[in-house]
Amino acid sequence: MRELRLAAETRRRAPAARHAENPLREGLRLERVPDPAAFVLFGATGDLAHRKVIPALYQLWRTHLLPHEFTVVAVGRRAFSDEAFRAELKASLDRFSRVQPVDPDEWDELASRIVYHRGDFGDPAAFAALAERLDRLDEDRRTRGNRLYYLATHPSAFAEIVAQLGRVGLDHERHDGGWRRVVIEKPFGRDTESAVRLNREVGKVFRERQVYRIDHYLGKETVRNLLVFRFGNGIFEPIWNRRHIDHVQITVAESIGVENRGSFYEETGASRDFLQNHLLQLLALVAMEPPTTFEADALRDEKVKVVRAITEATPEQARRDVVRGQYGPGWVAAQPVVGYRAEPEVDPASETETFIAARLTVDDWRWSGVPFYLRMGKRLPKRATEIAIQFKEVPHQLFRDSTTEPEANLLAMRIQPDEGIMLRFGAKVPGLGIDVRNVTMDFTYGSAFQSDSPDAYETLILDALLGDASLFTRADEVEEAWAIVDPILAAWAEMPAPDFPNYEAGTWGPEAADDLLAREGRRWRRI
Ligand code: BG6
Repeated sequence: MRELRLAAETRRRAPAARHAENPLREGLRLERVPDPAAFVLFGATGDLAHRKVIPALYQLWRTHLLPHEFTVVAVGRRAFSDEAFRAELKASLDRFSRVQPVDPDEWDELASRIVYHRGDFGDPAAFAALAERLDRLDEDRRTRGNRLYYLATHPSAFAEIVAQLGRVGLDHERHDGGWRRVVIEKPFGRDTESAVRLNREVGKVFRERQVYRIDHYLGKETVRNLLVFRFGNGIFEPIWNRRHIDHVQITVAESIGVENRGSFYEETGASRDFLQNHLLQLLALVAMEPPTTFEADALRDEKVKVVRAITEATPEQARRDVVRGQYGPGWVAAQPVVGYRAEPEVDPASETETFIAARLTVDDWRWSGVPFYLRMGKRLPKRATEIAIQFKEVPHQLFRDSTTEPEANLLAMRIQPDEGIMLRFGAKVPGLGIDVRNVTMDFTYGSAFQSDSPDAYETLILDALLGDASLFTRADEVEEAWAIVDPILAAWAEMPAPDFPNYEAGTWGPEAADDLLAREGRRWRRI
């Protein structure tokens, strides 16, 4: 069980005046503070560390959610003095911190806890030196042997780093309570075989309970709220099934292109970058059975059952039920943008998909016959992530004479931006006669709680430090998710080269994605 402690007991409290003004925030005062620990950041000079990890640590520090005895050991290949490295981090923080401006005093306090350790991941001597340094830091900074290894490197380095940690005994948990955990970024493998191999390599060194595989979508506030919405309320669960739900749509639209990650994207594409992880995780949270407790394994057992129940596509189904696309040049937010093939580090004849839409089914008692339509694309007209639960039509239409035809109920959960939940239902238009019009009931986070949501990385890093793995993916989940994606990739490999680009930047993807729903008399929700 998680240890609950009042933050006030360990560090001074953040002013709570704003919280007290809002009645919906009443009772939200309990904050958990992790044990003293060393946070060992591999890939410290990389993009992810600068954009996400350090800003998250700064935010946790600023809001007094990290222990006083906290040290970051930043491991990278390049040579840096501690001062020079801290200055680089500060420059990134000024760009990427979600709260601006950066408070110089808070930053100085955190920065004094960051040290740089130069080392090549393939060099055993660098790890022996790291082990010694960590022991010294335990003494000097009182971090008590607790260590979190965060792998924010290129995925090709994951297995090597884990093996090196094992070689110098950095995985061993101490009898007097020093814990050791490893956080591994995505992508975890590039197909079932490589994921199984990586799980095996990691498993040679760490036990599963020490391993935290990140899918940052699970740390998003609104994604976590899905669990509260489904299992913290009594009225939705009885209708959350095939008797009442016609179909589910999950959309992740991004207006950005591949930015400066062309070579990464060439290796992954939307299927590996999104379907295998973020999209299937969202589907699992929508479709899972209620867990018996809110503990990591109970939750993950239920999620993995859903993924296992998804029908693996035959080559025929992969051709029929999965659509891939790649953006050509076009306009986004009134700016001209280049096509994918003209992006830096991208092959001018690339066949990599930047859009995927799929029709999946979960073959279990609850969902049999209910299609789940998933889509994700880059360079779509706007940034929007949404889960839409489309309910069935009423069994008998009483209001046929209404001038507008009433539509079936819809529940839309907006993951980002403009986080919230919307329920659509029919209402009588005031006046004589009976005219029915669709209206909506809307809940928005921003106005209800008047506070910013934490970034997913803040939530996940804090959870990993607290030893709560609920929002991290377990070995079997990752492998089961690859089992859904593998047959699709295999079918594509057998098909003639796709006719790319097949959608213009700034549009909602290829026409075939619309046909996927149209052939069953449905359409994508306009977002
Ligand atoms: C990452 C993907 O996992 O998620 C990126 O690799 C994508 O391609 C990003 O842009 C989206 O994250 P968010 O939090 O902005 O929705």
